[in-house]
Amino acid sequence: MLAELSPTLIAEVALATKLLKLKQRICILTGAGISAESGIPTFRDKQTGLWENYGVEDLATPEAFIRDPKLVWSWYQWRRQVVADKAPNPAHHALAQWQYHAQSSDQQITLITQNVDDLHEQAGSTVTHLHGNLWRNKCSQCETPVQNQARDSYSSKDTVGYDEALMTCYQCGGYIRPDIVWFGEALPVDEWQTAETAATNCELFISIGTSSLVYPAAGLAQSAKQNGAKIIEINPNPTPNTLVDITLAEKAGVILPLLIQEIIAL
Ligand code: APR
Repeated sequence: MLAELSPTLIAEVALATKLLKLKQRICILTGAGISAESGIPTFRDKQTGLWENYGVEDLATPEAFIRDPKLVWSWYQWRRQVVADKAPNPAHHALAQWQYHAQSSDQQITLITQNVDDLHEQAGSTVTHLHGNLWRNKCSQCETPVQNQARDSYSSKDTVGYDEALMTCYQCGGYIRPDIVWFGEALPVDEWQTAETAATNCELFISIGTSSLVYPAAGLAQSAKQNGAKIIEINPNPTPNTLVDITLAEKAGVILPLLIQEIIAL
């Protein structure tokens, strides 16, 4: 596998491996790119099918839900259908292996994700979700949690009815919405606290598959850097993150197994 990489990338992988072995407090932030190889489109990919004329910002905001709750609900039903049968890829598995290995070493790994899928959990990781969970719902008015319909019912063979009636809250009658952090909304307090603490105290911050465009998550690298951490970025495309010490410009599913096998082989 290493032989297929460019000489520059091989040198960067060697540098990154050194850091991964050396540092003890590690904070990892993942974004949509880590699930791309599992077949889940990222947010910067152009929307397809029914949704090609909409931008994420037209669908994932509280204002959009107030304007047209059925449209927003339908988009999330469609996303659930896309994600329902997807499985973790080698990048998720490598991180889970590393976390498992760290239990019997001196390394402390905090895994934070912006993703609302559960592929990290499926791979066996412990993960903090900053942007909510695709498989949970809540009331848009009183925030009462509401159970979602069974995941099996979204299997890609079945068709989700996009014109289905909206559910309402049994407590207050408000519309039920996905338990996702939309643009302009605050992040969940405990999860954000975990992320900030991990970023501020880490010696190594690894940013994987995120465009680093959406704050406050994108600011975690800055907190880490200000406190002396080294920053590694894994992303085949350039990002605006200027704090990076080592750029691994390849797919996460290629790079992470390479890095982690070096650590686990110790
Ligand atoms: N491996 C690593 N990175 C990849 C891969 C891959 N195989 N494929 C794509 N990428 C990179 C892209 O180059 C891009 O920089 O993943 C990034 C995905 O960026 P976004 O779609 O912007 O996803 P993310 O950064 O997670 O978005 C942040 O924005 O839409 C909101 O709340 C939503 O959580 C989301 C947040």
